[in-house]
Amino acid sequence: MASETDVLKVPILGKESIHCGFHLFPHIAETVINTLPSSTYVLVTDTNVAKWHLKAFEGEFKRVLGSNSKSRFISLVVSPGETSKSREGKSQIEDWLLLNKATRDSVILALGGGVIGDLVGFVAATFMRGVRFCQIPTTLLAMVDSSVGGKTAIDTPHGKNLIGAFWQPEYIFIDAAFLETLPSREFSNGMAEVVKTAAIWNETEFISLESHSADIFAAIQTPSANYAGRSKSNRSSAQDLLLSVIVGSISVKAYIVTKDERETGLRNLVNFGHTIGHAIEAVLTPTILHGECVSVGMILEAEVSRQLGILTQVGVGRLTRTLKSYNLPVSVTDPKIASLPAAKLLTVDRLLDIMRIDKKNSGDEKKVVLLKRIGRTYEEKATVVKDAVIAKTLSEAVTVIPAIPRHDPVKMSTPGSKSISNRALVLAALAKGTCRLKNLLHSDDTQVMMAALNELKGAKFSWEDGGETLVVSGGEGSLTVPPKGKELYLGNAGTAARFLATVCTLVSNTPGVEPGDEHTVITGNARMKQRPIGPLVTALEANGSKIKCLESQGCLPLAIDPQGLKGGQIQLAASVSSQYVSSILLCAPYATEPTVLELTGGQVISQPYIDMTIAMMKTFGVEVVRRKGTDGKLLDIYDIPKSTYVSPSDYNIESDASSATYPLAIAAITGTTCTIQNIGSASLQGDAKFAKEVLEKMGCHVVQTATETTVKGPPVGQLKAIEEVDMEVMTDAFLTATAVAAVASGKTRILGIANQRVKECNRIRAMIDELAKFGVETVELDDGLEIIGKPIQELKQGASVHCYDDHRVAMAFSVLSTVVSGTILEEKRCVEKTWPNWWDDLENKIGINVEGVELGSGHQGASASGTHHQPVASVFLVGMRGTGKSFVGDMAAAALSWISLDADKYFEEKHQTGVREFVHQKGWPAFRDAETAVLKELMESKSRGHIISLGGGIVETPEARELLKDYAATKGPVVHVVRPLNDILTYLDVEGTRPAYGEAIPDVYKRRTPWYTECSNYLFDNTFTVGDDAEVNSKSMFREAERFFGHISGEKPNLAGNLKEGKRSYFLSLTYPDITQAFQHIDELAEGVDALELRVDLLRSPKDYETLGSSIPPAEYVQAQLAKLRKHTSLPIVYTVRTKGQGGAFPDVAHKEIFELLKLGLLLGVEYLDVEVSLPEKDIEALKKRKGYSQIIASWHDWSGRMKWDGEGVLEKYELASKVGDIVKIVGKAESVKDNFALHQFVEKQQGPKPIIAINMGLEGQLSRILNATFSPVSHPLLPNKAAPGQLSFKQIQEALHLVGLQQSQQFYLFGNPISQSMSPTLHNTGFNLLGLPHRYSLLETKEVGDEIKIAITQPDFGGASVTIPHKLEVVPLLDRLTPAAEAIGAVNTIIPQITPDGGRILVGDNTDWIGIRASISSRLGNQKAIKAALVIGAGGTARAAIYALQDLKAEKVYLYNRTIGKATDLAATFPEANVEVITQLGQWPGAKPSVIVGTVPSSATTVASDAHENPTAAVHLPTDLYGYREGPAVVVDMAYRPAITPFLELAKKSAAGNWAIVSGLEVLLEQGYEQFRIWTGRTCPREKRYDAFA
Ligand SMILES: NC(=O)c1ccc[n+]([C@@H]2O[C@H](COP(=O)([O-])OP(=O)(O)OC[C@H]3O[C@@H](n4cnc5c(N)ncnc54)[C@H](O)[C@@H]3O)[C@@H](O)[C@H]2O)c1
Ligand SMILES: [Zn+2]
Repeated sequence: MASETDVLKVPILGKESIHCGFHLFPHIAETVINTLPSSTYVLVTDTNVAKWHLKAFEGEFKRVLGSNSKSRFISLVVSPGETSKSREGKSQIEDWLLLNKATRDSVILALGGGVIGDLVGFVAATFMRGVRFCQIPTTLLAMVDSSVGGKTAIDTPHGKNLIGAFWQPEYIFIDAAFLETLPSREFSNGMAEVVKTAAIWNETEFISLESHSADIFAAIQTPSANYAGRSKSNRSSAQDLLLSVIVGSISVKAYIVTKDERETGLRNLVNFGHTIGHAIEAVLTPTILHGECVSVGMILEAEVSRQLGILTQVGVGRLTRTLKSYNLPVSVTDPKIASLPAAKLLTVDRLLDIMRIDKKNSGDEKKVVLLKRIGRTYEEKATVVKDAVIAKTLSEAVTVIPAIPRHDPVKMSTPGSKSISNRALVLAALAKGTCRLKNLLHSDDTQVMMAALNELKGAKFSWEDGGETLVVSGGEGSLTVPPKGKELYLGNAGTAARFLATVCTLVSNTPGVEPGDEHTVITGNARMKQRPIGPLVTALEANGSKIKCLESQGCLPLAIDPQGLKGGQIQLAASVSSQYVSSILLCAPYATEPTVLELTGGQVISQPYIDMTIAMMKTFGVEVVRRKGTDGKLLDIYDIPKSTYVSPSDYNIESDASSATYPLAIAAITGTTCTIQNIGSASLQGDAKFAKEVLEKMGCHVVQTATETTVKGPPVGQLKAIEEVDMEVMTDAFLTATAVAAVASGKTRILGIANQRVKECNRIRAMIDELAKFGVETVELDDGLEIIGKPIQELKQGASVHCYDDHRVAMAFSVLSTVVSGTILEEKRCVEKTWPNWWDDLENKIGINVEGVELGSGHQGASASGTHHQPVASVFLVGMRGTGKSFVGDMAAAALSWISLDADKYFEEKHQTGVREFVHQKGWPAFRDAETAVLKELMESKSRGHIISLGGGIVETPEARELLKDYAATKGPVVHVVRPLNDILTYLDVEGTRPAYGEAIPDVYKRRTPWYTECSNYLFDNTFTVGDDAEVNSKSMFREAERFFGHISGEKPNLAGNLKEGKRSYFLSLTYPDITQAFQHIDELAEGVDALELRVDLLRSPKDYETLGSSIPPAEYVQAQLAKLRKHTSLPIVYTVRTKGQGGAFPDVAHKEIFELLKLGLLLGVEYLDVEVSLPEKDIEALKKRKGYSQIIASWHDWSGRMKWDGEGVLEKYELASKVGDIVKIVGKAESVKDNFALHQFVEKQQGPKPIIAINMGLEGQLSRILNATFSPVSHPLLPNKAAPGQLSFKQIQEALHLVGLQQSQQFYLFGNPISQSMSPTLHNTGFNLLGLPHRYSLLETKEVGDEIKIAITQPDFGGASVTIPHKLEVVPLLDRLTPAAEAIGAVNTIIPQITPDGGRILVGDNTDWIGIRASISSRLGNQKAIKAALVIGAGGTARAAIYALQDLKAEKVYLYNRTIGKATDLAATFPEANVEVITQLGQWPGAKPSVIVGTVPSSATTVASDAHENPTAAVHLPTDLYGYREGPAVVVDMAYRPAITPFLELAKKSAAGNWAIVSGLEVLLEQGYEQFRIWTGRTCPREKRYDAFA
C-alpha cells in the first residue's frame, strides 16, 4: 500500500524528516511504527479534527500494528481552541498519560492545528524529561509555520506563548488532504504565512501565488474521492499546485531554521509583518485570527519600507492584491475589523506600546523586517526603525510641515493615469492577444477593476519586471457569470463601476442554466451606492439588457442578466458623466449588431474623456466615427463597428495629469520650480492644460513641451487670482486650482464643474466647507464656485481638514498645507485611489516633511454635523431700537477683548451724514439700500473678532434678512437682543437721535419680532438692565454677557472642565416649579457641582400652578426663568425636558412641544441639551445642526426595569446615543444591587470616545450613582424633592467614594513663617468639610525650606501646599515644573502634585496671587475694562504678581514706584511686555492718571504725605492727589491687610471720589485661596460662609 504513496521529503536540521503529500495515513502509520519502535503510541487531537479523521487514523495504526502486537495505540481528544493551550490543558494531558501508564519510550502524535501542535509538543518536551513526538498538522498555518522549527509553548494570563521549549519532532507529516475539511477562513489564515514566506524569500513562488489564488482555492474546495492525489499519477494539477506552494513555503522555513535554530538573526526574517501584526493581534484576539492580523501587519510594514524609500509602490501594490485575493484583510479599515468595538482601541500609542515588548527589539529600539522588493529583504535580519516612522505609517491622519521644497528644482513623474489605466485594462482584457501594460497605476481603482475582470474570467493577468509590467492575455470578449452568491465588490471606484456595468451585459449565459436564473451583481461601499449610474442603466435597458437596481433606483448594486449586448441604436443622456459614454463605446464592438450611439440631453460633459476613449480604441484596432452635420459641425452621434480588439504588444500608460497638478501647484504656491516628465501638450488628458490655463494666468512661469511640463512659481505671496476660468475640460483639477486660489490676491471664479457634485463626494461643497476652516471665504455658484483669496499670513493655522474619503480633496489641501502651519489632513489613506505613495513622494521626491497625527477622541470630525462656526466669526446683534444692543455689544466686546462696532455709526462715517439726515434727504428706500450695502460690507470686512450691533430696521429689507439668515446658518451667531416692550418705551422717550418711526412703536415691535426671530440663531435676554439692586445687577449682567458671548462665539465655551478632562463630574437637578425659589440658597446648592440641570418639564407658570396633572410651560415663562437663573450663576446649564414615560412630568405624546422647547434652549445658549433618542430623527438632526458650541446629551431612559445591562437591547441604545450625542446617557432601573455590577461592566466595556452617564434608578441603584463618573445627577438636602428616586447629594457621594476606596484622603499644607495667624486652614478645611472631601489642611511652620518640607511633599498622600513668605523662592528647586505664571512672577505660592501619563507624579509650582489681584480689579471695572494707566507701589514678589495681573488685563501703561529706585528698574526690566515705567514721585504722572492702583508694601511702610513728619520712618509718602482719576470706574487694592484699614485705604476713603472702589488685601487673599482650592480639588470653594469665618 505504502508503495503507492508519493511523498516529497524536505530536509531540516540535517534530516529528511518532513514528509509531504496527500492522504498519508498509511504512510504515517508505517513510518512511525517501523522507525520509532515503542510500547505506546499516543495520539492527541481536538474534537473538530477527531470528528473527521480520528477513526481512519486509528484504523490505519491498528492495521499496521496487527492484532498480536505488544505495542498499543491510545488516543485523547481535547477541546479545540486557544484556551486548551494552557497550564490546565497541559496537566490534563499529563495526568491522562500517567493514568494510562505511558512510559519514557512512548511516541506522542500531535494531530491538529497549531494549538494541538504547540501544546502536545510542550507535553512531549517535559513528560518523563522528554519523549519522542511527531507533528501531524491539520491546518495550513500549522503545516507551513507552527509545526516546523521545534517551538512549543502554552499561554498564561500574562500573555501568549510565554512558557515553552524548543523540542524537535521526529517527523512532520504534511498531509494536504486535511485542508479539504478545514474552514476556508482558516485556510486563508494560513495563506498569510505562505504569502509572507514568498515575499521575503522567493519571487518565483510569489508570482505563482499572485496569479493562482482561484486554482489554489479550487484544490481544497473539491473533495478528492478515492484518495486522489496520494500518488503522482492521480494527482490533479490543482493538487500539484497546492502541494508545491506548501512545500515551497516549508522549505524556506526549514532552511532558515536549520541555519539559525535558536532565532538569533536570520530566523527573524519569518517575522515579516509580525512586529505590527502581533500588536494588532494583541488588541483584536480572539475575534481576528493571527494570519489576518499578520496580513494587515505585512502591508503596514511594507509601507514603512516604502516610506523609508526602500520599497516601491509596485511592491506594496502586489502584496496588497495578493493578500486580498486570498480573502485576507489588508488594512484595519477592512469591514471585518472596523466593525469590531475593539477596533477603536487600535490607537497608535497603544500599538507602539505593545510593540515595545517584542522579542526582536534590542533595548528600546524596535525592529521591523523591511522588504526591499518582492522576494528580498533589506537586510538579512530585522532592521531598527524609529518610533516616529512606525507611528507615521500607523496614524490615520497626517500633518504637512510648511517649508520650501528641499529638492527644488523638483523633477519627477507621477503615477500612471487612472483614466487611461482603467480603459487600457478593459481594452486589453476584451482584446485578442497579449498586451504588456507599462506604468499602470497601482491603486484601489485598478485593483478593483482587475479583480472584477478576473472574476468574470475575462482575461488572465501576470506580472513581469518585478511588477512594473502587467501582462494581459485577452479573452476576446468571452465572459462568465461569477459563482452564485459572489458579488463583484467595487468599493468606491466610480470608473470601474461605470465601465463594468456595460462589460457585464456582454457576459454570456452558462449553458444549461435557465435565463433569469443567474446574474452578475456589481456592488460597492455606502458612498458608491449613492453615486448615480441611472442614465447608463436606462440606456442599456432601452437597448434590451435586463438590469435590476437591487437597492435604490439608478444606483449600485446592479444585477445584470447574462444575455449579451444587443447594439444597434443606443440613446444615452450624457450630461452627468462622460464615463457612461466611454462605458458603452468600449463594449460596443462586441454587441450583436453594429452600434449607433446617440448622446442626448443637451450639454455633453467632459468631451476630452470621450475623445480619449476613442483614441485608445483606435490603438486597439477599432475605429469609431463621430458623425458630422451637413454644416460640417460635429454631432453627438457615434458609429461603432462590430469587431474584436487586437492588442498592441506593448502599451505605455501616460502619467496622470490630474496627479501632476499637485506638485506643480506646490511649486506655484511655494515660489519654486517643478518639472513633470511624461506629461506635455501632446497628452490625451484634459488636465494637462492646468499648468498653462490656470497656473500661468495666476502668475507662474510655465514651459510646456510635447512631453514635459515645468512650472516656476512667483515669490511666495504673489499669486494673482483669475477673474474667471472655465475648467470644463479639466474638471478634476478644479480642487487644486481652488486650493491655490485661496492664497491668490483677488477673487477667482471657477466655472464648468457642476458634475463635481456627484464625484467621490460633493466636491464643491467639500472645498467650501474645508476652506472655511482656514478662514477663506467662498461663494457657491450653479456650476462652480468663487474663492476670495487671502494673504497666507492671514489664513487660520491648525485647520483639521476632513477629506470625505476623496483623494483629490486630500491632495488639494496638502498643497495649501505646504504654506499653512499645523494643517491636519484627517484621512491620509484616501489618496490610495490614485497616488498611494503621495505622502512618501511629497517627503522623498519633493522634499516637504510629513508627520503622522493621531486624531484624539475629542476631535471633531466633519461627521459630527453640527455647524461649528469659526471660533472667531463676528457676532451680529439685531433687535428693536432701544433694547440695548449697543450697550450689550460693548459689554460683550469688553468680556471677549473683541471690538465693538455700531453699524449706525459706521454708516454715518461712511456716508459723512447722520442716519436721520440721510433719510430726510434721500428717503427710506435709499436708506434701506445703503444700510443693506453696509451690512454686506461688514460681513465681509469685519468677519472676525467683532461684535456688531445693527440698526433696528435692518430686517425691513428682504435682502438684508437673507444675508442674516445665511450668516446664522453657515457663518456665525446672529443674536436677537430682547427686552420687555415697556422698558423699550421708557428708554426711547429720552432718546431722539435716530429717525422717528412714523408708526406706533408697539406696532413696529409686533411687525418686526417674527423677522428678528427668523434671522437670528441666538437670543439674549436683556432684562438685567432694569433691576432693583443696581450694583449686583450690573455685576451679574456683565458676568452673564461674558458667559453668553464667550460660549456662543466659541471664544470660551462654557463647558464643564472636569468633564472635558475626564474627571468625575456632577450636576445638580433643580426641581422647582419656579426657579426663583432656589436663589436664596443657590450658592449652597451649587457647592461642588459642575453644572445645574434645569428641569423644564417641572416648571409651572403661575397660571398653571393650581392645575393638576401635566402642563406645558409657555416658552416665555421658560425664557424668563432661565434669564433669572443666569443672573445667579455662571455654571453651565443642562437643559432637560423629560416626559412621564422617562420619569419626568411632560405628557408623553408632546413631541412637537418638546422639540420647540429644546430649540428654545439652544436659542438661549444653554451649554448642555438633554435629548431623548426616542425623539423623531429629523428633530434630533435639526437640533444637532444648530447646537453650535453646546453639547447634546443623548439619553435613553428605561423605567420599565426590563432593560438588562448585560442584555441585547442596551448596546443598541448605546450605539444610537453615541451617534446622536456628545455625551451618552443611559438610565435603567435596579431591581437588586447586582444590577449595578452589570451596569459597571457594561460601561467598562464601552471604550468609545464619548463620555457616558450610566445610572440605575431606585434605591437599589444608589451604588451606580456613586460609581458613575460622568455628570452624575445629584440632589441636595435643601431641594424640595429629588429629581429621581435614589438620588444622592454631592457630599454623600464624595463620602461614599472615600469609604469604598475610590477617593484617597490627602494632606495639604501651608509652608511659611510666621503663619500661626493664618486663615488658610479654616478656609480649606471648611471647604473640604462642606463638600464631603476627606482631606486635611494644616500648618507647617519652618524657618527654612528643609527636611520637614521635603518629607511632606514626597508623601504619597500629599495633596498640595500653599507657600508664603519667606519660602516663595526657596521651594522652587524642589519642584519639577513651574506654570508660565509662576515662571514670569518668579515665585511660587501654590504646589500642585500632578500625575503624568505614565503614572508617575511630578510637582508643579504655580502662583495664584496674580489671579486674586486680577479678579478684584476686573470685577470692579465692569464693561470699561480698558486701563490707560495703572500704578504699582513696591518692588517685591507681590509687586511682580501685580504687574503680571495688569499685563494680563492689557493695561496700556504701568507706573512703578519704589523707595529704592534701582530695585524698581530691575523689576521693570523683567516685564518687557508690560510697558512698565519707573516713576520717582507719586502724583506726578508722565502720562494718563492711573485708574488702578495696587499697593504691595506693608502698612507700616506707608504714610499719608501730610502727616509725614509724624511718622518719619515710613518709606512711602502718599500724596493726597493720588486718586485724581475721575473719568470712569477706578480701583485701589492694598495687598496689606493688617490692620484692616491701612493708611493707604484710609487716604482713599478720605480723598477718592465715588468712582473709586476700595479693595482690601483680605479679599485678594481669599480670592487666591479659593483659586488654590479649585486647582487642587477641581471644585469651587464654598464662598459666602468662608467670608463669615473671618469677618
Ligand atoms: N510554534 C510555532 O512556531 C507557532 C507558529 C505560529 C503559530 N503558532 C500557534 O498556533 C496556534 C494557532 O494554530 P491554528 O491556526 O492551526 O489554530 P487551531 O489549532 O486552533 O485550529 C483552528 C481551528 O480549526 C480546527 N481544525 C484544525 N484542523 C482542521 C481540519 N483539518 N478540518 C477541520 N477543522 C480543523 C481546529 O479545531 C480549530 O477550531 C496558536 O496558538 C499560535 O500561537 C505556533
Ligand atoms: Zn505567524
